[in-house]
Amino acid sequence: MATPTMDKVEAEAAASSDLITVTFRIRRFNPEISEHAVWEDFELEIDPKERVLDGLHKIKWDLDGTLTFRRSCAHGICGSDAMRINGKNRLACKTLIKDINPEKPITVEAIKGLTVLKDLVVDMEPFFQAYRDVMPFLITKGNEPTRERRQSAEDRERFDDTTKCILCAACTTSCPVFWNDGQYFGPAAIVNAHRFIFDSRDEAGEQRLEILNDKDGVWRCRTTFNCTDACPRGIEVTKAIQEVKRALITRRY
Ligand code: SF4
Ligand code: FES
Repeated sequence: MATPTMDKVEAEAAASSDLITVTFRIRRFNPEISEHAVWEDFELEIDPKERVLDGLHKIKWDLDGTLTFRRSCAHGICGSDAMRINGKNRLACKTLIKDINPEKPITVEAIKGLTVLKDLVVDMEPFFQAYRDVMPFLITKGNEPTRERRQSAEDRERFDDTTKCILCAACTTSCPVFWNDGQYFGPAAIVNAHRFIFDSRDEAGEQRLEILNDKDGVWRCRTTFNCTDACPRGIEVTKAIQEVKRALITRRY
């Protein structure tokens, strides 16, 4: 015998019984109103299986349309919604409410070390400038080959981890060296340099190593592992930085 399906009213009642009341404590900043940031609390009903991004949407759509934050894909791909949630850099779209102790207020603030423009939105330009500075594209000499550039599976594996970067800046903005001196290239730029330095098809490894041999380059890293902990893609960021340091010493890569 077929199992009777729940009617709409029952389904809604079941869904609403899953809701819990959560406080979002958000660090607000609006330079048109004040030069100081303030914490503001929002209380909302939410399913704990939803994500912090869903909570931010509910606040923006139902409670305060002025709340400002970036997001695009909502699925951990575009890297635009890195923020500091309960004191740790995370992607709002990959963070479930139930995983971050919703019994207490959930704090949400902008990532650190970059200028806050409004609420949770920072000026990403210094971050992207460091990325551009390491020349994150394949550089080769000589004539274009008539067929694709071949590479063995082992050679491809050498830099597989660092191809996963989505440029969310969670690593760079969790780094105490970057907080103290925004001139440091930062983990994300080094990860993206690593991706090409260790690519057997690329011929500009020496140039990239020299760029990172700068006073603001890899030697500023203090191996605190904050970057590795923060990376939502699970990239071994500190290991990649160590490999670039080793390549600088041995000139082997
Ligand atoms: S290395 Fe990880 S944390 Fe850093 S920018 Fe790339 S994806 Fe984000
Ligand atoms: S919105 Fe794209 S990674 Fe979160």
